[in-house]
Amino acid sequence: MALSTESIDAIKEAAARYPHKKSAILPALTIAYRQIGYLYDDLYIEVADAIGVSPNEVASAATFYTMFPKQKVGKYLIQVCTNISCGLMGAESLKEYLLKKLNVKEGGISEDGLFTVVSVECLGSCTTAPMMQVNQTYYENLTKEKVDEILNDLREKG
Ligand code: FES
Repeated sequence: MALSTESIDAIKEAAARYPHKKSAILPALTIAYRQIGYLYDDLYIEVADAIGVSPNEVASAATFYTMFPKQKVGKYLIQVCTNISCGLMGAESLKEYLLKKLNVKEGGISEDGLFTVVSVECLGSCTTAPMMQVNQTYYENLTKEKVDEILNDLREKG
């Protein structure tokens, strides 16, 4: 069992709030992701058991949403939006800057275990392009200088 008792209790509590158990799949996956840091096949079974739905239903939802990483990632998952608005505002070059600065390949984990950088589709913050999401936080109107500050802050937090 990878899920902690606290996570299982939280998933059951979430499931009890919905008239249809399937509605609890996304909140349950969020709980599992926050505890483990990424999602994988055996975890879908544990989540399904806690909710009372089939593992396939959980896996279908999990694989549809890119916000849940499916492999181990660094403590800080940096999702750089490279869709049209962000792309026009230099997202690719910012992503390359991040990868070079962190000395990591896209999707890999930096040597200190802190960072993973990936490209994602539109995160719905097009008017503040270019932008990226680090775990649950949006960083917008990015420049290389801002990226430097953000990385320094995150490194200080460890
Ligand atoms: S295109 Fe980047 S947030 Fe929409």
